[in-house]
Amino acid sequence: MGQNIIIGAGSVEKITDILNRIGCKKFLLVCDSSYPFLSIREKIDSLPYERAVFSGFTPNPLYEDVCRGVELFKSEHCDAIIAVGGGSSIDVAKCIKLYCKMDPAVNYLTQAYADTGVPLIAVPTTAGTGSESTRYAVIYYEGKKQSVTHESIIPNYAVLDSSVLMTLPIYQKKCTMLDALCQGIESWWSVNSTEQSRDFSMLAVSLIMRHMDAYLEGDGAAAEKIMQAANYAGRAINITQTTAAHAMSYKLTSMYKLPHGHAVAICLPGVWEYMIHNPDKCTDPRGEAFLSNVFENIASAMKAETVPDAIGCFGNILRKLEMKFPKSDDRDADIDVLTASVNPIRLKNTPVTLVPDAIRSIYERIVLE
Ligand SMILES: [Fe+2]
Repeated sequence: MGQNIIIGAGSVEKITDILNRIGCKKFLLVCDSSYPFLSIREKIDSLPYERAVFSGFTPNPLYEDVCRGVELFKSEHCDAIIAVGGGSSIDVAKCIKLYCKMDPAVNYLTQAYADTGVPLIAVPTTAGTGSESTRYAVIYYEGKKQSVTHESIIPNYAVLDSSVLMTLPIYQKKCTMLDALCQGIESWWSVNSTEQSRDFSMLAVSLIMRHMDAYLEGDGAAAEKIMQAANYAGRAINITQTTAAHAMSYKLTSMYKLPHGHAVAICLPGVWEYMIHNPDKCTDPRGEAFLSNVFENIASAMKAETVPDAIGCFGNILRKLEMKFPKSDDRDADIDVLTASVNPIRLKNTPVTLVPDAIRSIYERIVLE
């Protein structure tokens, strides 16, 4: 895909070389509210280049936010974009890149996408979404989630400076790491998996299992491994997209304000268990034996003896990290709403058919546990 990935604590210092190489005159810095508190802020502030700063968008960025960013990019005559932040900053920057040469009088979401050639540098400040290496961006238009997909929005440079993780609050560390772990696992069993995506998944899952504890205890070397793992998981879903655990998580996030990684992680064991108990519902064209082999490989990357042991191991991680289901006033009503919320199109990458009764039983397990 031609993306340059620069890894390591302190790698943010390489941005000057990148800006030199691309002949940048003035860049647009896209950053969120965490920016003033970042350890890498000084290094970015002292880059010897003119810049305009775009901030102030919501954590689930709106279409209107992106439009303001496009206006600023154009009125300030910027020629490159640096996104610093979690998934939202990177997603906003991707859309600004994609929309900056389109007709502003027509809704950007309805226009044909083409590569604008604007260099985009992504500096993730969490180890989770992998957005720095995917062709997807999520924004909200008139209250609805819109997936913006185009090959050209894969950032030209991903700068993975793990020193940013050292000041991340512990709950955010846990949620983002679990997002990466789930993305690695879901991509592995996705019907769209390829040999390359499964290699990325294997690297992501193995690295997270090996370095999770030290990372959460604040170890710098482990942080570098987890950042690398999250990027592998991002590259895996860039090929395969995510599956049912992600599809089922979105309503949990909007209903209970549950962070994305937390919501996905509590959906994953039920989906996994349902799949291993219903091999006859396999939809992967490569067949049941292929799928069961995938499940075994996931288990072995998790250092579990059997597939049920791997699911148990995942459950133990959730208990250890205290990832619980939030309190609900009316659990039965919530299960109805959750079941009705799942978009069947988002289930198409899951290797086993999930009818509404199956979705309901998985939500029951989550909500009533
Ligand atoms: Fe995710």
